[in-house]
Amino acid sequence: MSREHVGHGDIVRFADARVNLKRDDAGELRAQANRLRDKLETYLKEHPEFGLKRMLLSGSLAKGTALKSISDIDVACYVASDSAPHAIGELIEWLAKRLETAFANFKPSQITRKTYSVSVQFIGTGNEVDIVPILYSGDPQWRGDLISQDTGEQLMTSVPMHLDFIRKRKAAAPQHFAQMVRLIKFWAGLRKREDEGFRFKSFMIELILAYLADRGIALNDYPEAMQSFFTFLATDQLGSVIAFTDYYPAGTCVPTSDPVRIWDPVNCENNVAKLYDTANRDRIVEAALDAGDAIDSALRAMSKSDTVRYWQKVFGPSFDV
Ligand SMILES: Nc1ncnc2c1ncn2[C@@H]1O[C@H](COP(=O)(O)OP(=O)(O)OP(=O)(O)O)[C@@H](O)[C@H]1O
Ligand SMILES: [Mg+2]
Repeated sequence: MSREHVGHGDIVRFADARVNLKRDDAGELRAQANRLRDKLETYLKEHPEFGLKRMLLSGSLAKGTALKSISDIDVACYVASDSAPHAIGELIEWLAKRLETAFANFKPSQITRKTYSVSVQFIGTGNEVDIVPILYSGDPQWRGDLISQDTGEQLMTSVPMHLDFIRKRKAAAPQHFAQMVRLIKFWAGLRKREDEGFRFKSFMIELILAYLADRGIALNDYPEAMQSFFTFLATDQLGSVIAFTDYYPAGTCVPTSDPVRIWDPVNCENNVAKLYDTANRDRIVEAALDAGDAIDSALRAMSKSDTVRYWQKVFGPSFDV
């Protein structure tokens, strides 16, 4: 492959400038979430029967896969399953009231009831912490029923185990796993902006990359790793069952006729891609074909301006070297 005009180092520089959330900014956002957590813990010491058990940073800030365009801070809140209501509307109201009590110095206007979560807004920074309830019955590995932010249904899973799963993949490919996640998420974000019907959930991107990395795909050269990712999507067409043996034995996932099957590493009855129909799948495959073609062309182009133009088909007009 020709790297004369745009190579691995250029993608690294682009990622630093345009894609990645800066380390300091990530630190600040994490600190803000942790202050809420500490506040809750202090309150719980005096009110152990309060029904809230634990707050935990989840999502991309916890996994180290956040983009510069991050919009809110994801936090999971473990609530005692036997004291919280289970109907979603009542659960959100119940959680909001408890957060208002535990965070007494917050104005009521800073705490907002959303459809499937409660958000807490910081006045100074404007940052929003999105607090997602997990109904919890005491599992030592913190399995519980996570409220899906897409549908409001209960998904049995474990956020700490997800963090551990991603941590293992990051340890196997330091820097590169998280960077590839961010590059593909950035690509998917551009596709979402130009096509309302395009969906590609971040967690699905992470799981597909983990699946490929586990099978030996090299992540240390970004043009090649991007090409490997897109080639997989274009050839496999998301037909393979994607599952992991970290926390359950191989072959235990329930058979399903869902068009895309990407099993939660923690629960082989939870298809993370359950909401993706054949049209959603086909759009991902088509976009991957386009991206793969563009990278092929970029690697063959004779001039620098042509090469950059092809990479812009993948990374948008802000791509430059
Ligand atoms: N369908 C699901 N089943 C189980 N857990 C889920 C599911 N959807 C989300 N989660 C949990 O929520 C976390 C965050 O979800 P998601 O990957 O969609 O967002 P993110 O990593 O915060 O990315 P973004 O940068 O897009 O906000 C996941 O790491 C996982 O722990
Ligand atoms: Mg998030």
